[in-house]
Amino acid sequence: MKKVALVGCGRISKRHIEAIRDTDGLEIAYVCDKNAEMAKATAEELGVPYVTDYRELNGKGLDIVSVLTPSGLHPRHVSNIAELTDIPYIVCEKPISLTLREAFEVYRRVEKAGKTLLPVFQNRYNPLVRLIKELLDSGRLGKIHQFICNVLWNRNDEYFAIDWHGTPEFDGGVLYTQASHYVDMLHYFFGEVESYKGLGSDLRGFDVYDSISAVLRFKSGTIGSINATVDVYQTNFLTEFTLIAQNGTIRLSGTNLNQIDFWNVEGMEKPDLNIKLDHQYGKGHNTMYEYIAKNSSICSQARRT
Ligand SMILES: NC(=O)c1ccc[n+]([C@@H]2O[C@H](COP(=O)([O-])OP(=O)(O)OC[C@H]3O[C@@H](n4cnc5c(N)ncnc54)[C@H](O)[C@@H]3O)[C@@H](O)[C@H]2O)c1
Repeated sequence: MKKVALVGCGRISKRHIEAIRDTDGLEIAYVCDKNAEMAKATAEELGVPYVTDYRELNGKGLDIVSVLTPSGLHPRHVSNIAELTDIPYIVCEKPISLTLREAFEVYRRVEKAGKTLLPVFQNRYNPLVRLIKELLDSGRLGKIHQFICNVLWNRNDEYFAIDWHGTPEFDGGVLYTQASHYVDMLHYFFGEVESYKGLGSDLRGFDVYDSISAVLRFKSGTIGSINATVDVYQTNFLTEFTLIAQNGTIRLSGTNLNQIDFWNVEGMEKPDLNIKLDHQYGKGHNTMYEYIAKNSSICSQARRT
């Protein structure tokens, strides 16, 4: 049984707890939150010990730590855990950081400490996203001319009343907190960006953008646009990914790219793959933890010796 510690016992920790519970071969052995009440409540619910300082997780025979703290704190927390504890495998909720410089720095420090870092971008485990990725990699679609990616969601004033939401230091705005899943997906599909132009709007009055529009050209020559907002009236509206390729046109949509809306691909029937969403975050966290459970090289030094 691989032993997992959670650092941060807030909202997303519930999804991690559920996913770890559903995964054979993993168990939560410790929890940590700097807020002692949060840590204690989660520890009592799970029947495990808690700490309020992640440095105390050192020497506890842990194999994996999942960092679930506010986004802007990820670089510091991941790097410190890599350097100051003996836990070999670090999972970090998205985004890894709010600046590119910090992202490079985190990876440098994690690597230097001889540890492994896995960011949570659960969209990559969405079966429809995987299908598109396989089609792109196989070359079956021919030249990829253009894409359209829209993330049209709602986050109400109550959401922004939470202390770190809507702040440049800890949240970063819609592109980082909500749309980072889709930015990651575009990189996953098309590789490196060659050039882009973007605009943001902050009409809600926070210090970050609540709506953005950007056009991008990838090194492959593919061009496209991404629009993301948290300003849709009352409730999440949709996510959309449309692909215009030499040998086909595909449109995915649904609140989390969970349905095929349009399919016209040379020599390939529309797959019967629409997904029933039983969770607002999708089931990608489960797939991620199943991978971790099966990866035999993930095991703490303490348990190897
Ligand atoms: N993958 C997804 O779909 C998804 C969904 C929601 C949130 N998230 C990400 O998860 C992260 C956490 O979001 P949340 O909504 O759970 O936030 P939250 O505010 O509910 O919880 C964060 C917790 O971290 C704790 N914390 C802060 N500093 C700490 C420290 N030094 N040591 C230990 N604990 C500390 C806080 O006390 C708090 O309990 C964010 O980065 C967010 O972007 C991802």
